[in-house]
Amino acid sequence: MSRKFLIAGNWKMNLTPDESAALVDEINSLTGSQTSVQVCVCPPFTSLPVVSSKVEQSEVHLGAQNMHAEPSGAFTGEVSAEMLRSLYVSHVILGHSERRQYFGETNASINSKVIAAINANLRPVFCIGETLEEREAGKTMDVVGAQVREGLVNYPSSALDLLVVAYEPVWAIGTGKTATNEMAQEVHREVRKILSEIFGESAASSIRILYGGSMKPENAAGLLAQPDIDGGLIGGASLSSKSFCDIIEAALSTQA
Ligand code: PGA
Repeated sequence: MSRKFLIAGNWKMNLTPDESAALVDEINSLTGSQTSVQVCVCPPFTSLPVVSSKVEQSEVHLGAQNMHAEPSGAFTGEVSAEMLRSLYVSHVILGHSERRQYFGETNASINSKVIAAINANLRPVFCIGETLEEREAGKTMDVVGAQVREGLVNYPSSALDLLVVAYEPVWAIGTGKTATNEMAQEVHREVRKILSEIFGESAASSIRILYGGSMKPENAAGLLAQPDIDGGLIGGASLSSKSFCDIIEAALSTQA
């Protein structure tokens, strides 16, 4: 079992197409040819075409931040898996806590998107994580367990090579508060245990589980050194090529 690190940048609702082009040019020149750590950038929809044209010649992968579960139809404002595929998108963040919190996404609706994504051969970056209240009430493992089980209902074992899970404690996102290495590892270990209950131990041992929530160059190496942390989903620090590539460097040296 060897799991290659994945460092994914979630640009959220930031950057115009021109600004996105400039950022991806810098990322390409700093890290665009290495393949030891997988790198993915997830710009907003409006920047996907330009970033797609820029990553075509590099090893950087392209991700979207959301999609609709239906293939087409009267869903104003939404985008389908096939539309993403047409722009050479390979990854899609699904169930991010901001989508759960502000856009009413539930474990069931996220499950429909996860299944639609794999049916289109997209890699779901399936996000889970507890709120501060849930952690303080001692409910972290229950919440995360239900998110994994309900979000992955009917997930076929044959498509497990596509699955990426991202554990993002909600209280650590954009707050500057990071889970300690031990806190993060404890949840990652539990998530892998739940994955092994669903899919079997051997399959679970090859699924990547990313950590997200204020990951930055200063704390990346410690987090990435944990046995069940297989990369990062980076928000704020992915908007600067320097800090994003420093995290990739930390992954490269941790892996070496
Ligand atoms: P952050 O965001 O790195 O800014 O905390 C992570 C995320 O929301 O994916």
